[in-house]
Amino acid sequence: TPPIWLMRQAGRYLPEYRAVRATTRSFLDFCYTPDKAVEVTLQPIRRFGLDAAIIFSDILVVPDALGQKVWFEEGEGPKLEALTDPSQFGQLSRARLPDRLAPVYDAIRLARSALPADTALLGFAGAPFTLACYMIEGGGSRDFAKVKGWAYAHPESFALLIDLLVEAVVDHLTYQIEAGADAVQLFDSWAGVLPEEQLFSWSLDPLVRIAHAVRSRHPRTPIIAFPRAVGPAALMYRRPDAFAALSLDTGIGAHWAAKELQPHICVQGNLDPLMLVAGGVAMEREATRILDKLAHGSFVFNLGHGVVPQTPPDNVAHLVDIVRNWKPSVS
Ligand code: CP3
Repeated sequence: TPPIWLMRQAGRYLPEYRAVRATTRSFLDFCYTPDKAVEVTLQPIRRFGLDAAIIFSDILVVPDALGQKVWFEEGEGPKLEALTDPSQFGQLSRARLPDRLAPVYDAIRLARSALPADTALLGFAGAPFTLACYMIEGGGSRDFAKVKGWAYAHPESFALLIDLLVEAVVDHLTYQIEAGADAVQLFDSWAGVLPEEQLFSWSLDPLVRIAHAVRSRHPRTPIIAFPRAVGPAALMYRRPDAFAALSLDTGIGAHWAAKELQPHICVQGNLDPLMLVAGGVAMEREATRILDKLAHGSFVFNLGHGVVPQTPPDNVAHLVDIVRNWKPSVS
């Protein structure tokens, strides 16, 4: 039986999450209040008995800790005071990161001691490229014109930002592991917007540098990489020297992954989050198809991206049953 956990398993689809969320106006203050962060981290474990919890936080705590202004607007998602030229990099500093993010590490310590011994606790961070997207676009984007414009026309100064983020992410993951995270995941949510050569320079290479640095200090802590929407370029991330597992988005075929990725590295994924909204027979068939292809090898069941707010919680319970009751068909 493969283990199962879900990206964004804590969130607005759960009424008990909305109740805690309603007690704090600012989303970042919510992330920085250990009691509340721990409570919502544990909620999906209590309700569904998932095999892993992921600490409740956000990837944008890193730009916040570096000194960039970050806030969340109701119904609009994250906003940042955008970086517009390299002279502003000097205002960003790793020095205050451990203090500013101490509540995240406190939450990890508390969550680890509250969780059952056989439930893993995951820490996480945004990948440098995905963080740079938010930092330069000033929030979400449709075309990533600003960040790409900068990376393509001024690769030397873009590299300075990526290098700073590599160091900050290494610090953040190391502190999370030292506080009790059993494994960590790197979210490169926007990797898929880059062409091949830039994908290597701005996504894969920084992720491998982070993984090597973290592993030199904590060689036994698994690192999961999630280079979202990269298609067949997922082959480049088949790097067991760096990553223990690759998280696959919904666009990657389970059959292809079983043949090309799984012989080299554990894979995680990749049910469409909208199948979890649909539920019923459609979800049963699709989850079983993924299990039949991937559960014979090294595999962690997950979604291809995060749980969406309109997900009926009962469908999550049903999905956990499907995975736990799955049996390999004799062939
Ligand atoms: O997975 C978990 O349960 C752990 C918590 C977690 C959150 N964000 C909580 C959150 C994790 C792992 C993240 C990662 C994250 N944050 C990513 C990478 C994964 C991905 O989705 O691609 C990104 C790109 C972000 C940035 C971010 N944070 C966005 C774009 C948004 C707005 C989206 C939305 O649904 O409103 C957030 C806010 C956020 N982070 C919420 C949650 C539960 C919703 C905020 C709320 O409660 O109102």
